[in-house]
Amino acid sequence: MTPIGVFDSGYGGLTILRQMRQLLPQYDYLYLGDNARAPYGSHSYEVIYKYTLEAVEALFARGCRLIILACNTASAKALRTIQQNDLPRLGADRRVLGVIRPTVEAIGPLTRSRHVGLLATAGTVNSGSYTLEIHKLWPDITVTGQACPMWVPLVENYEFDSPGADYFVKKRIEGILRIDPQIDTLILGCTHYPLLMNKIVRYTPPGVRIVPQGEYVAESLKRYLETHTDMDARLSKTGTCRYLTTESAGKFRESAALFMHSMVDVEAISL
Ligand code: DGL
Repeated sequence: MTPIGVFDSGYGGLTILRQMRQLLPQYDYLYLGDNARAPYGSHSYEVIYKYTLEAVEALFARGCRLIILACNTASAKALRTIQQNDLPRLGADRRVLGVIRPTVEAIGPLTRSRHVGLLATAGTVNSGSYTLEIHKLWPDITVTGQACPMWVPLVENYEFDSPGADYFVKKRIEGILRIDPQIDTLILGCTHYPLLMNKIVRYTPPGVRIVPQGEYVAESLKRYLETHTDMDARLSKTGTCRYLTTESAGKFRESAALFMHSMVDVEAISL
């Protein structure tokens, strides 16, 4: 069995996995949430790199050949180093891809004002990765970043529908639009954020487009597999999905029922 590995610090990557399974249901998937150590957002580069590498090694050890880092923080802070320094050692036929590039590719045609806002973790915003990547493809776009440090903890602690969530979501959306009122497109640059979508929609003015990433990451994976036929041929295709968590299996199962409205086959592991 050679499933596609999908990694996130916690539950956020489930929003990406859902779209991938919708578009590419024939593949097998192995999801890993490092829930015991989430959130990653405010950790240093060294810690995020170490945690992400451990997760990548765990997925490779369980048969994955292709891994999607369904986490912006890991994509921003660990992906390049893993690709350049670790993959040659871990196996030339293995690949790790992130979520930032597919989002950036999609954003150009979506904004008319050419003013884009990035809502993400402090780690992702401060890394400057989005601004750098956007300017490589779309140099005319002005990017404003806003860290939303409370949003991931709200999701990881099941507070995504509470009045507390209203306060923090409103504060950050109003904050970024105050910095740049010309923004017409808001990137949800953290895979947890679609789980707060009801609140985000409530506080985003009409005329400002909200851009979650799942659809673009899934489409990009599809194109990747169409052009990398060697990799595609190696992946197993029986349509299964299994889950690994560094927290307790029971806790993950409960959350999956909450976020995905389904029961899942989950195993607890240590990294
Ligand atoms: N889902 C991760 C991301 O996309 C959240 C990071 C965190 O754990 O803070 O950035």
